[in-house]
Amino acid sequence: MDRERDIQRELSAMEESIRARYRSDGLTTGLVRLFQKFLMLFYNSCGRDLPWRRTTDPYRILVSEFMLQQTQVERVLVKYPEFLGRFPDIEVLARAPRHEVLLAWQGLGYNRRALSLHETARRVVDEYHGSVPLDRTLLDSLPGIGGATAGAIVVFSTNRPEIFIETNIRRVYIHLFFPDAVKVHDREIEPILGKTMIKKQPREFYYALMDYGSALKKGIGDPNGSLLKRGAMNPNTRSASYSRQSTFQGSDRQVRGILLRHLLAGNGAREEELRDLARVEPGRLERILKGLERDGFIERSGGRIRC
Ligand code: ADE
Repeated sequence: MDRERDIQRELSAMEESIRARYRSDGLTTGLVRLFQKFLMLFYNSCGRDLPWRRTTDPYRILVSEFMLQQTQVERVLVKYPEFLGRFPDIEVLARAPRHEVLLAWQGLGYNRRALSLHETARRVVDEYHGSVPLDRTLLDSLPGIGGATAGAIVVFSTNRPEIFIETNIRRVYIHLFFPDAVKVHDREIEPILGKTMIKKQPREFYYALMDYGSALKKGIGDPNGSLLKRGAMNPNTRSASYSRQSTFQGSDRQVRGILLRHLLAGNGAREEELRDLARVEPGRLERILKGLERDGFIERSGGRIRC
C-alpha cells in the first residue's frame, strides 16, 4: 500500500515536471526521456492486463478494436470471449448469417459496427484469402475501419512503430502538451507523438498511452497529486475533433435498439407488433424502419419484418 502511494506520488511529480519543462523549454531530448520513463512507470504500476493484448492474431485484434471503438473496456471484456467462442476465426464469421452476428453483438451498442465487422470479414475472406491485410491503406478501405482502427490493428499485430491517435491517446497529449490551447488538431499532436514514441516497444507504448488517457478521464491518481480528478474538465473537449455523444434516452438509436432486440429474440415480427413495442408515432416508426432497412439490418415483406 505504501509502495503504491509512493509510486502515485512519483508519477504525479513526474507529470507536473513534464508539463512545466515543456512550457519552459519545449520538447528537448531530456523531456522525451522523462515522458517515456513516466509512461512506462505508469504502465508497469497501473497498466491493464486485457485479453486482446495477449494475442498478435490480427483477426482477434480486429474484433477487439471494432468493439472498443465506442464501447467501454468493462463491457467489451464480457462480450469479447463470447464473440470469439461463437466466431473463432474470420471464415466462420464471414459465413455466419447476419442475425447471428447481430445477436452476438447485443450489449455492445452501435449495432452498425456489427454489420461493418461482418462485411469486413467477408471482404477479407474474398479479397485477401482470409488474412487481414496489415497495411493501413488497405485496412482503411474496409467497412467500419478508420485511420485510428487501421493504425491500432497494424501496431498491435506487427509491433511496427506507426503513428495513430484515438480518444485516450489524444487526451494524454492535450493534457501534457497543450495546457492552454482551445482547439487542438490531431495534426498538431502527430509530430509530438512521433518524437515521443518508444520505437523499440510500440505495442507497450500505445497500451500505456491508452491506459494513462483512460485514467485521466476516470480521475485515477494521487488525490493530492496532479493527475486529473473525477469531474475535472476532460482535455478532449479542447480537441478540434471533439463531439459530445448524443443523449441515448428517447433517441432513434434507442428505438432502433429496442426493435432490433425484439426481432432477434423471435423469428422476426409483424409491423403492428413493433408499433405496440416502440410506442412512437407511426410516422416516426416508419422513418426508423426505413433507416434500419437502408442500413441493412432488416428486410420487410408482406407486413412481416425480419433481420
Ligand atoms: N488495448 C488495445 N486496444 C485498445 C483500445 N482500443 N482501447 C483500450 N485498450 C486497448
